[in-house]
Amino acid sequence: MEKKYCAIYLSGTGNTKFCVSKLIKLLDENAPIVAIEDDAVIHTVKTYENIIFGYPVQFSNAPKMVRDFILENKDLWRGKKVLCVATMGAFSGDGAGCAARLLKKCGAFILGGLHLKMPDSVCDSKLLKKSDEEKIQIIRHAEEKIERLVLQIKSGKFPQDGLSIFAHVAGLFGQRLWFYNKTKHYSGKLKIDQTLCVGCGNCVHICPMKNISLEGGDISTRGKCTMCYRCISLCPKKAITLVGKRIYQQYRAENYTNKLIISDR
Ligand SMILES: Cc1cc2nc3c(=O)[nH]c(=O)nc-3n(C[C@H](O)[C@H](O)[C@H](O)COP(=O)(O)O)c2cc1C
Repeated sequence: MEKKYCAIYLSGTGNTKFCVSKLIKLLDENAPIVAIEDDAVIHTVKTYENIIFGYPVQFSNAPKMVRDFILENKDLWRGKKVLCVATMGAFSGDGAGCAARLLKKCGAFILGGLHLKMPDSVCDSKLLKKSDEEKIQIIRHAEEKIERLVLQIKSGKFPQDGLSIFAHVAGLFGQRLWFYNKTKHYSGKLKIDQTLCVGCGNCVHICPMKNISLEGGDISTRGKCTMCYRCISLCPKKAITLVGKRIYQQYRAENYTNKLIISDR
């Protein structure tokens, strides 16, 4: 009998949502896919035994919101079978392992780990910027990897990306140790340029952490940014930055995945 899955994810600029959606649809067309900030997520996880859990890698770590979500709901995971899916711009070492280890501590059984390279989401840094063609190519490769692996997963063989001790060491010494302070707490460094901001409230509504508020035309943050870059990638005035000082290239996965679908027809 085919396994029943649900998929849960955190996604800032849409990469993880795209990958997890693609994977789960190929595994089980009717499976639910729910964002971790959605109220339905707890009920969904309780209902399903097999879970695909996706998130973007940040400085070779799982986002703070993902780690908190796991630990704040630690009773949820006992007996669950989880495939951790980490999307990344370049390298993570043990991206999938970061959540897998926490889930295991909470009693989950780890089916596997999957690393998917996708376009970089850091809109306010010059690093890793690619042309549109290159981005589409990267997404195509990720799609192909997913399609290939689904066949194996259906026959019970799960990928094990990022779960080995070697991957752990690579993630730890490759980046995580050096950037530990950036990911230890939520960030209070989100900057909103008041001279550019028009008070549209877009960022307020889309923030998964409810970190941004708009009162009487004044926009402010609560210091609880999980660094997902959703607000930064969607601000119509490019008024929001975090790591850098200005926007080089706003990135949204759907701008490229839509093109992919159209060009594939
Ligand atoms: C704050 C931050 C840190 C990141 N650190 C890494 C990293 O260490 N390694 C990497 O390969 N990609 C890194 N990335 C890129 C994202 O992991 C990648 O683009 C991911 O697919 C974004 O997924 P999303 O669109 O679902 O948010 C980082 C992105 C952000 C915003």
